[in-house]
Amino acid sequence: MSEGDESAALTELAKRRGFFFGSSEAYGGVGGFYTYGPQGAALKSNVEEAWRERFAVQEGNLEIEAPTIMPEPVFEASGHLDGFDDMLVECAECGESHRADHLIEDNSELEDAETLSPEAAAEKIADLGLVCPTCGADLAGQSVEDFNLMFETNIGPGSSTPGYLRPETAQGIFVEFPRIKEYARNSLPFGVTQVGRAYRNEISPRKSIVRTREFTQAELEHFIDPERDEADLSAVEDVEVLLYPATEQEADDGDYVETTIGEAVDDGIIGNAWLGYFLGIAQEWYETVGVDMDRFRFRQHLAGERAHYSSDCWDAESEVDGDWIEIAGFSYRSDYDLSKHGEYGDDDFTVFQQYDEPKTVERAVVDPDMATLGPEFGAQAADVAEALETLAERDPDAFDADEVTLDVDGEEITVDTDVANFAVETQTEAGEHITPHVVEPSFGIDRTVYTLLAHAYETDEVDGEARSYLSLSPSVAPTNVGVFPLVSNVDGLVDLADDVAEELRAAGFAVVYDDSGSIGRRYRRQDEVGTPFCITIDRDGLEGDGADTVTIRERDSGKQVRLPVDDLVGTLVGLRAGTASFDDVLDDNEVVEA
Ligand code: GLY
Repeated sequence: MSEGDESAALTELAKRRGFFFGSSEAYGGVGGFYTYGPQGAALKSNVEEAWRERFAVQEGNLEIEAPTIMPEPVFEASGHLDGFDDMLVECAECGESHRADHLIEDNSELEDAETLSPEAAAEKIADLGLVCPTCGADLAGQSVEDFNLMFETNIGPGSSTPGYLRPETAQGIFVEFPRIKEYARNSLPFGVTQVGRAYRNEISPRKSIVRTREFTQAELEHFIDPERDEADLSAVEDVEVLLYPATEQEADDGDYVETTIGEAVDDGIIGNAWLGYFLGIAQEWYETVGVDMDRFRFRQHLAGERAHYSSDCWDAESEVDGDWIEIAGFSYRSDYDLSKHGEYGDDDFTVFQQYDEPKTVERAVVDPDMATLGPEFGAQAADVAEALETLAERDPDAFDADEVTLDVDGEEITVDTDVANFAVETQTEAGEHITPHVVEPSFGIDRTVYTLLAHAYETDEVDGEARSYLSLSPSVAPTNVGVFPLVSNVDGLVDLADDVAEELRAAGFAVVYDDSGSIGRRYRRQDEVGTPFCITIDRDGLEGDGADTVTIRERDSGKQVRLPVDDLVGTLVGLRAGTASFDDVLDDNEVVEA
């Protein structure tokens, strides 16, 4: 399909067949908000479940669900209030707002315009002679401003308690760290996951469900002690990946690096083994749920592109219509978030790490003589004592002099060294408090759904008729199986079809029962929504050698076999889990000519 066709065909199919469509259309609609229809909601929910299974259950992580609205101090601490901006340029003619970096990227060779300063972006817009995409007016001379992406609200009546819709689910995990660490028995490393909605007031939402103002994230915050916890790469070292490191992006003749996770970590291309570990399991997970791995890469962020909390970041990107879409980010957030919440919040965001062996250490301590400090400094005496303690920790040599100079609430105070009762003591310590570092795999669920649909969209010809179908993985397809009685006026046949549908539903399969129209039409309807298997109950399944048998047809190949009703559940369980292929089913059963 040519560029642009894929997303256009997808958007049309998505609306017609109930995957997703613009929301509130009865009121004119509003950009950046989408409703998932019955097919899309089921597909999305299956993707979320598949993610949970891999990143929460298989990894032994803890899942939480925090509120989507949080008070302002959370985002002061996290840095989102000050630093979570995109570049906005407004058209003086029609008043439409545009994202400056996207305008530049769409109209030049530049791929990293978000690394520009607002002033440099304004200059670039003028140099390139860019015009407003809405009305065509010249944008040269318009200023480019930083625009904060958070949606603000008021908590309760009045405006005294501002709150924000969370721009990432991650903050709900960081803020609750003091409690969650108890559930993890204060034992690093451990991971906490959350799947939920996040909100960003995008300047110009685009590409249907790719860039929306309300979206679903699946995030894992993996807490580690960077000095002690090493990633075990044995399960992923041989996973093959296509990497696009920052150095290659910056080089004139830069290229992809085809390698394995083990080699990429050994060679320092992936600078952190934990990031390598999560890239490895993500590569395998994306393949399982049906991303076309020939249209998939990991791209490292350029330095200017990284979020304010990130010291290294790789994006998982999928190709659709010739564009690369970020579908997940793997970020090394260091101790940025927990340190900030420790500083701003009123709780303990550290973990006590026991040493292997208790350590003997020398500590500079003071025992201030309050009987002297009290009369001399009055209400300030306690602060002076605290300042002495701090100085002893920071600069014990200062106590060699007869006097020490202290900073007490910005005031310089000098006291006789004797009143401090300074000493160096030998102490035994069992461990230390550390602020854990965080490695964060953060998945965009909507973008994953979009990728799966785009990569699954296929057209071919069946019996001389054009067919479009979604080659979705059985593990995530919205409907697992169609059940069709060949005719609807033969009692035994309809009864058997009802029984089959009931049995499959009882076994946990999403079943569509369809008895209307030709069998070919019924297949086409299910093909178009990606139902991987359809079961037809015909007269041959009622009597003689074929009694209690049905046919099962595979969507992509159209191949069919006849098999006993008793084998259906077991067969479909294997096909859905990916432990069996339809070729195995063809080998084990009587093939039916379509
Ligand atoms: N938590 C990472 C992000 O929202 O981009």
